[in-house]
Amino acid sequence: MNNNTDWCAEKDTDDIVWLRLNQSGKNTNVLSKSVLEALDKQLVQLATENPKGLIILSDKKQGFIAGADVTEFTALRKATEARTWIQRVHEIFNRLANLPFPTVAVIHGYCLGGGLELALACRYRVAANNPETQLGLPEVKLGIHPGYGGTVRLPRLIGTLPALEMMLNGRSLSTRAAVRLGLIDQAVPARHLQQAARAFIKKSPPPYRPPFWQRLIGQAPMRQLVTKVLRSRLEKRVNSRHYPAPFALLELWEKQEGTIEQRLALEAESLAALLISETTNNLIRVFLLQQRLKSLGKQGIFKSQRVHVIGAGTMGGDIAAWCALKNLHVSLQDQSPDRIAPAIKRAHGLFKKRLKSQRPIQAAMDRLMPDPRGEGLAKADVLIEAIFENIEAKQSLFQALEPRLKAGALLATNTSSIPLETLAESLSQSERLVGLHFFNPVAKMQLVEIVKGEATKAEEMARAAAFTRQIGRLPLPVKSLPGFLVNRVLTPYLLEATRLLSEGVPGPVIDQAAIDFGMPMGPIELADTVGLDICLSVAERLTPPEQIPEELKLKIQQGQLGKKSGSGFYRYQGGKSVKPQPPQEYQAPGDLTDRLILSMINEAVSSLHDQVVEDADLLDAGMIFGIGFAPFRGGPLHYVRTQGVDTMRQRLQALETRYGTRFTPSAGWQAL
Ligand code: NAI
Repeated sequence: MNNNTDWCAEKDTDDIVWLRLNQSGKNTNVLSKSVLEALDKQLVQLATENPKGLIILSDKKQGFIAGADVTEFTALRKATEARTWIQRVHEIFNRLANLPFPTVAVIHGYCLGGGLELALACRYRVAANNPETQLGLPEVKLGIHPGYGGTVRLPRLIGTLPALEMMLNGRSLSTRAAVRLGLIDQAVPARHLQQAARAFIKKSPPPYRPPFWQRLIGQAPMRQLVTKVLRSRLEKRVNSRHYPAPFALLELWEKQEGTIEQRLALEAESLAALLISETTNNLIRVFLLQQRLKSLGKQGIFKSQRVHVIGAGTMGGDIAAWCALKNLHVSLQDQSPDRIAPAIKRAHGLFKKRLKSQRPIQAAMDRLMPDPRGEGLAKADVLIEAIFENIEAKQSLFQALEPRLKAGALLATNTSSIPLETLAESLSQSERLVGLHFFNPVAKMQLVEIVKGEATKAEEMARAAAFTRQIGRLPLPVKSLPGFLVNRVLTPYLLEATRLLSEGVPGPVIDQAAIDFGMPMGPIELADTVGLDICLSVAERLTPPEQIPEELKLKIQQGQLGKKSGSGFYRYQGGKSVKPQPPQEYQAPGDLTDRLILSMINEAVSSLHDQVVEDADLLDAGMIFGIGFAPFRGGPLHYVRTQGVDTMRQRLQALETRYGTRFTPSAGWQAL
């Protein structure tokens, strides 16, 4: 057989060829150009041999195929170049789809993007019915749509509506859900996969077809109507200027007619245009930044089983719940049982939402122990302190608990503003203390800042990052400077928004400007969500007093702390903001967006200059995963580079002339 470093083909005694992918030098298989070209060689040879059947499977533990090799996409510069490549992949997958003998994809673990499209070109698909197996077409998250035949083969296989839904939302399916849709022909325990695949070759049953009405929706007269409905639904949740891919997908589907080849040609043309766009480049950049953050938490250097959290308030309670959800045994300590009870109740809500069925919910509850006396401390591999933000209270707590810690336990604080050096003064092993700065709400925010004090050992930073990965979060190493990274960059933006409000610009207008820029939520609503008291206490540590708007202090004096107190800058009903309508004739100031965004960008430049993070990419990653900075712009510093450093600095200087020194370009612009 024609074997190479990635693919290995073997014929068994039943004349069935088993074609295994084990991409060299990778943990997970991805469809790079060389993997696809090597597949083609295999297929050409198989077509001449005409065996009884072909079974394609992966030798990687992680899964089948995680998708295309997106790093290769970033090298594409011209639409013609992109189209030529896509057409070549179509040719390869068509060769697979047109083989005259039965073909089966054997799926376990990841089967995403191009990996699923390869499986779609097989006649049958069998998959492991375990929780690790995920099937999906997540391309829209990268600013593109499926392009290795997915937009043509998926609707034909499972019907128009489920196919469009899968491609438009990009979410993965479990094996069970995939069987229900007809995407998977059979789900079996992993150990029976090969036997099941063999049975499909031997029996060669008629391939799955979607119900008649699903096929009808795909016909020309229904198409326009369906597209119209889907487009108007999409417009409600996605801004087409920021994220054009799902709209391009609908447009493509509306146009696709004729033979498979004609439809594939349209797919190639549509995808090629998206692939070379700036949005796609930036979203691929975000994906790669995420991979980089993941790689900072190296697995294998530290694995925790027991976590002890002290302080069962907003943060400690939610951190404890999150760790229990992620299969750790957690003890939660506070000053009294009644302070722990609300956290346990919230944890139950989280488990119900995430785990759905009773057994795993109960198991998670069993892993979370209220521990008012702190008995779990001595056994814990990780201690997370999350008590009041008070230096003396934290110092005396650390002093008391240090002698009781297990040797080798990770010692962490969730402080958001106290220098680690100050807290470490109370410890005899100050090099042990590391910051694990979670964001609120813990269950939603992906980023955790891993804070390095002057004394913190590199090894503790690495262990903290590994722990962060263990609980499914993204670690970002930062220096222990005021505000670390995210709060430092966020604060001038929130203060500028408050200032605009006190100048009479309506809150909804300010929020809309930020949303139009691409932020997930406007700054006024964000300040209310974080809590105005918290915003003020962070601002007081980072900003000269005269730069803190009176409006903010006034609200706090009136007890209006934001969402948590039912009102702040907005009123809240049922947890939702009630935003007043601005007057119809209201004209927003022309420099509104610049005032907001450049405040944030100027502080980002200054943070890089102060080396809060190691490099510009990590800064961008921190702001994207910490506050959702417009992902399609690739991060604040990348945005500066794409707009032109000089242009951006001039815009900042124009604001400085108008509003004063708070807009003076910070140190660091020269070095960009
Ligand atoms: P919180 O006020 O909601 O909860 C603090 C809890 O600590 C209270 O339940 C209190 O009874 C308990 N506590 C105080 N002293 C204790 C002691 N000696 N032993 C045991 N328990 C004790 O505070 P929150 O908001 O949860 O903040 C906790 C920490 O997390 C602070 O360091 C804060 O800076 C940090 N943080 C807060 C964020 C937020 O958005 N609230 C975000 C990120 C970090």
